[in-house]
Amino acid sequence: MPDRPEIAPTPTLGTQGKDMVRWYAPLALAGIGLRAAAALVVGGLADNRETQEQGDPISKAKFSGIVDYRTGNTNKDFWFDFSADVGDGFDPAYAVARCLAKDELSIGDETLPRGRFLVIGGDLVYPNPSKENYEDRFIVPLREAARGIAKGDVDNSDSVEPFADLYAIPGNHDWYDGLQAFMNLISAARFDRAKESDKKGQVIGGWQTRQRRSYFTLRLPGDWWVIGADDQFGNYLDRAQTEYFSLMADRHLKAGQKIILCTATPSWVLSNHYKDPRMMANLRTLHDLLTKNGAEIDLLISGDQHHYLRYDGVEDHNQPTLITAGGGGAFMHPTHPTPETLALDMNDDGNPDHYRRVTAYPSIARSRQISFKNLLLPFINLEFATAVGLIYAFLAWFLQTRSITADIGLSDAFLAILGHDANMVDALQEIAGKFVRTLFVSPEFFAVFAAVWGALASFSQGSTGLKIVAGFFHTLAHVVGLLLAFCFSVQLSSTIISSLGIDITTSYWLPALASLLMVTFGGIIGGTIFGTYLCAAVNLLHHQWTNSFSSLRIKDYKNFLRLKINTKGELFVYAMKIARVPRIFGTNRPWPEPEPELIEKIGPLN
Ligand SMILES: [Fe+2]
Repeated sequence: MPDRPEIAPTPTLGTQGKDMVRWYAPLALAGIGLRAAAALVVGGLADNRETQEQGDPISKAKFSGIVDYRTGNTNKDFWFDFSADVGDGFDPAYAVARCLAKDELSIGDETLPRGRFLVIGGDLVYPNPSKENYEDRFIVPLREAARGIAKGDVDNSDSVEPFADLYAIPGNHDWYDGLQAFMNLISAARFDRAKESDKKGQVIGGWQTRQRRSYFTLRLPGDWWVIGADDQFGNYLDRAQTEYFSLMADRHLKAGQKIILCTATPSWVLSNHYKDPRMMANLRTLHDLLTKNGAEIDLLISGDQHHYLRYDGVEDHNQPTLITAGGGGAFMHPTHPTPETLALDMNDDGNPDHYRRVTAYPSIARSRQISFKNLLLPFINLEFATAVGLIYAFLAWFLQTRSITADIGLSDAFLAILGHDANMVDALQEIAGKFVRTLFVSPEFFAVFAAVWGALASFSQGSTGLKIVAGFFHTLAHVVGLLLAFCFSVQLSSTIISSLGIDITTSYWLPALASLLMVTFGGIIGGTIFGTYLCAAVNLLHHQWTNSFSSLRIKDYKNFLRLKINTKGELFVYAMKIARVPRIFGTNRPWPEPEPELIEKIGPLN
């Protein structure tokens, strides 16, 4: 692999973007939750796709919504690329973009030239789609990846000669602002403008955006089509989009035409996992629209889940290959809880087709092994552990004051521990009994307990009954953890204060030290209980795919696709991986080059 040219670091602020998102930092968590909720409302009230169609309708006469790639040398293979879930930390986003930017990749004795275009299958940025996040987490890694490869000055996109086109569909994180920033960045092309630069859109790194909607159609050699659809993170397909695809199918998608359909979520996996056939509704609509005149969907590709999965049909008729390839930069998702087999009723005729999981990256065994890192959750997520410790300290204080008000005398038990008069097991039993009595006699304490139970139940996944049960045991574990942390803190603080010769009955040092220890023990015990819950949920119930791995912020195990249509019109998919991304964030150049390897080569598909 050729070495990258050595270039002095650019002194621009933010040149190296951002580190991985800290999903378990309490403020970030609250912000993400609010934006996700707002997106549901904003998306429903003011759909940017419909507004754009009103202001700038796609010309039905010219049908300018299609980009045709059947030009150039027909005696050569046609190459294109797919990546998804990009803008999290700089290191993984750069590593994948760097591989995609290079003139070619060498795999064994095969040379894989860079694609004529790159499709990004959603989630260009995390955690929310602000202008700054698009700049720091998406544009910067792509720009740095193109440095030394694209002709011109990549710091000034106007002077860059782009080496490939770029298309994207939005994922849920792009939709969190109602699609404003995504539309401005990606869908800025205007075919009806006189100025050439307006027609094409923007240059990002070495890639040229060319679409004018959040969905697109590309016509390729060999009767192949790439179609990107935007179903508003599983909500609905807008009327303008369904009309557009319907019209296109009438004009072009006749028998013999072959479709590669890119969607933002692998609804084929998720509908089976959640046992919710409604999750297939949008895919079914697209399938019906695109195949109504005899065309076939041969390949479905999606991101959303940050791993690589391939499902193949098991029946003896034409079934599309189903690929999830969301390894473009964001934290790794597990593969081991994904379904081994799928039943998909694409025609909604009550007669489903069956598929089996053929390939998973990372492997099922490796994914399971990694999930156990959640047992160290408080040490991996210090801000989260601190927040849990503070909540534990507050609840301990609340419990103690409520028990005093209710004259239950929880303090007596602690005084016994303070004076080293009680053995710990007896003391814990007594405190647990008094905890239960406090619940019964203090409505406000019961309300807080119920609120914690409710919050943990709603955080759980599955049926309502399972959520209530899982929430109850999770809450119970925290109650035991709270009482243990309380006893340890009281005992250790009294031992330390007395050993310093200070009178524990009058000193302010005792409650101060006990509170500090309560936050520490609470953070460690409560954080470990939470991590144990995530570990149990993902391994025993196969729930919490995202929460149990966003906690780990793993930047390795990346993947992307390079696809080839040969001169016979056969499609091949090269699924690529980067097992370990170079750690370059915050370091000066020269940076080590990422080392892509082949996961598998699939094909010919035709
Ligand atoms: Fe994602």
